[in-house]
Amino acid sequence: MNKAVPMIRFQNCFKRYANGREALSNLTLDVEAGEFAFLTGHSGAGKSTLLKLLALIERPTRGALLVNGQNVSTLKGEKIAAHRRQLGMVFQDHKLLSDRSIFDNVSLPLIVNNTPTREIGKRVRAALDQVGLLKYEQSRPVELSTGEQQRVGLARAVVTKPPLLIADEPTGNLDPDLSLEVMNILRRFQEVGVTVLIASHNIQLINRFKARRIHLEGGRMIENGEPVATPVFNAEIDVEPREKTVYLDVPLE
Ligand SMILES: Nc1ncnc2c1ncn2[C@@H]1O[C@H](COP(=O)(O)OP(=O)(O)OP(=O)(O)O)[C@@H](O)[C@H]1O
Ligand SMILES: [Mg+2]
Repeated sequence: MNKAVPMIRFQNCFKRYANGREALSNLTLDVEAGEFAFLTGHSGAGKSTLLKLLALIERPTRGALLVNGQNVSTLKGEKIAAHRRQLGMVFQDHKLLSDRSIFDNVSLPLIVNNTPTREIGKRVRAALDQVGLLKYEQSRPVELSTGEQQRVGLARAVVTKPPLLIADEPTGNLDPDLSLEVMNILRRFQEVGVTVLIASHNIQLINRFKARRIHLEGGRMIENGEPVATPVFNAEIDVEPREKTVYLDVPLE
C-alpha cells in the first residue's frame, strides 16, 4: 500500500438526502493510512452519513470520495462489492444471524469472498482469538452477552483483514467497562496497521484515548470551535444523484 496516498479523502463532498436535508456540506478531509480517529458531533451532525458514504450505502450528491487513491463515489455493480471487501464495518447493532453459530457468523464475509475452505477455519479462529472469544466458536449469539456479541461483530469485521475499518457507535449499547473493552480492541487493530474511523458521541470514553477527533456540526467539519476552511480542489468531480439506495450485499438478518 502506498503510504503517501491517504486512506480516505473527502474532496468538497456534499450529501443532500431526497427530502432536501443537507447532511454533509463541503466536507474536505484526509484520513491517513494507519490512523485511528474518532468522528464526533451531536445527533444529526452527519456522522453516520459520512460512514455510509464510505461504505457506498449512500453517495455524495457533489464532490469526490477517494479510498486508498481510488475515486469510489461513482463505482457501480461488482465494483461496489469489491470496494466493500476492502472495508470492515461495525455497527451499534451487531446484526448477527441468530440461527447460526459464532463461527458461521464470523466466516460469512470469507464465504462471500470465495475464500478457500482450508483458509476459512484458520482466519475465523484468528479473528475470534483477537477478540478473546475462541472458546465460543460453536455457540449461538443468544448464548453470549451483549458485549461478547459486539466483539463477534468486531471479529467478523476484521476477518477479511481489511485495510480500513469503520465503526458507527460501536459501544452504543454497552456499559462503560464493555465500551472500553471494545475501544481497546479497535485500538489494537490500528496497532497492527488497520486504519480505524469510529463515530461516537461518548466523549468520556473518547477522552481516554489519545487520538485524532474529527468533529462535525450540522454537516460541517469544526476545528477549535470554527468551521474548517475547505480548500477547493481544482479537479472537482460532480456526481450524478443516485436512483436508489444500495444495501449491503451480505445478508444481515
Ligand atoms: N435516509 C435519510 N433521509 C433523509 N434524511 C436523512 C437520512 N439519514 C439521515 N438524514 C438526516 O441527515 C442528517 C445527518 O444524519 P446522520 O444520521 O448522519 O447523523 P448522526 O451524526 O449519525 O446522528 P446520530 O448521532 O443521531 O446517529 C440528519 O439531519 C438526519 O435527519
Ligand atoms: Mg448516527
